[in-house]
Amino acid sequence: LRKVSLFDQMTDEQLEHILSIAQRRTFPAGTVLFHENDYGAAFYVILKGSIKIFKRSAKGEEKVLTLLQSGDSFGELSLIDGRPRSASAATLEPTSVLVIAEQPFHELLRTHYDITRRIMAELCQRLRDTNQHVHDLTFLDSRTRVIKNLILLANRHGQRSGNLIAIRMPLNYDELAQMAGVQKNVLAEVIRDIEDRGILRLSPNEYTLDLSKLRS
Ligand code: CMP
Repeated sequence: LRKVSLFDQMTDEQLEHILSIAQRRTFPAGTVLFHENDYGAAFYVILKGSIKIFKRSAKGEEKVLTLLQSGDSFGELSLIDGRPRSASAATLEPTSVLVIAEQPFHELLRTHYDITRRIMAELCQRLRDTNQHVHDLTFLDSRTRVIKNLILLANRHGQRSGNLIAIRMPLNYDELAQMAGVQKNVLAEVIRDIEDRGILRLSPNEYTLDLSKLRS
């Protein structure tokens, strides 16, 4: 539990308390944990696996807002403002989470200022990311958006060795295209081009970016 940044400053006793108020649950890939507009009843911390946060249009098209991995948390918005879920959450692979119900979550915020502060900092980061995304959708062309999105995923979720960053992510082309805000055919075209230039190497559930080639 201490590997989760929200809890890394806590004493053994405090961690015992968290475990006593939380439930550990494991879900198979593709499980929707909650839907947009549901009543928000719990806060989640990812122990292992990955989650996509997404919205659907009236026509059923999806937009992936963000990807979260072990150590990340989600579901705080509706608990804090008392309004419905702002987006849906689904597992991308078998995923274990800690689930903290509404009342114990509020109690935790009241009694642990360090946790409250980190949740506020995470909310600030999400607003900054969203502003950047609005900027990119407004001002950047689709090719740049695809490359920028790959770099963003690499910086957030990748493992670096020298000039190479490997990102282990069970994302399909649809989800990558939705994140970058481009059509799937544009994504495929850009990926083919940067594979040909040796910038990107794709293998099942993993891709590797070569930063030295990206710069040139
Ligand atoms: P909540 O609204 O309760 O349920 C959906 C959750 O997804 C939300 O809380 C946040 O934790 C998370 N979320 C919603 N929008 C974003 C976003 N733009 N970036 C990152 N996380 C988000």
